[in-house]
Amino acid sequence: MIPFNHLGWVFKYLGPLIYPHTVRESLCNFLEPVSKHAPILDLGAGTGIMSEFAYACRADLQYSAVDPAEGMLKFSAAYIQTHQGHAELLPFDSDSFEAILIGEALHHFQDVDKSIQEMVRVLQKEGRLFIYDFDSSTFMGKNLCRIEKIFGEPGNFFPPEVLKKKLESHGFSVHIRHHGYRYTIAGQLL
Ligand SMILES: C[S@@+](CC[C@H](N)C(=O)[O-])C[C@H]1O[C@@H](n2cnc3c(N)ncnc32)[C@H](O)[C@@H]1O
Repeated sequence: MIPFNHLGWVFKYLGPLIYPHTVRESLCNFLEPVSKHAPILDLGAGTGIMSEFAYACRADLQYSAVDPAEGMLKFSAAYIQTHQGHAELLPFDSDSFEAILIGEALHHFQDVDKSIQEMVRVLQKEGRLFIYDFDSSTFMGKNLCRIEKIFGEPGNFFPPEVLKKKLESHGFSVHIRHHGYRYTIAGQLL
């Protein structure tokens, strides 16, 4: 397994450098229609990089972060409320969030379907979902998947079209944007 609990400082200081500019742009577009002061969940948040990028365009939102690794969460910015936990069993009541953000984390979740069920439960009516991940149908994506599996990670990478179908089966409408070997998904509960 990747020792995330000891890698907080690496993600805090190097992580933002490898996020493509176009992903940040897609994230800000995604957040445009979100209500003022809405509650937002950064899932598999690590050090809260997605929340930081979101905060840069929507400082009014209320950010919560969930991650199993305390050693990552402790590097989060002060405006993020952190919770140690897993995507498969979220420590929140139903209908708690207007949007969920997941950056480079979905492929680490042990049970993706259970995690999506939990997302649907904690999202409000017509709640929104933003996912940024690696495309396993590309050369880079395939190799990243192989490397992560060598490290004992679940390696739950999906080609975007496959994840789209999966999310649609859980009641989301889905829009994909490609960023080379990476992609973003903007979803909304119907
Ligand atoms: C590659 S890091 C990405 C962190 C952050 N979102 C970012 O963009 O830098 C993946 C994160 O997923 C977390 N993670 C692993 N399994 C998880 C699970 N079952 N539920 C929620 N988060 C999980 C790890 O602890 C780690 O912080």
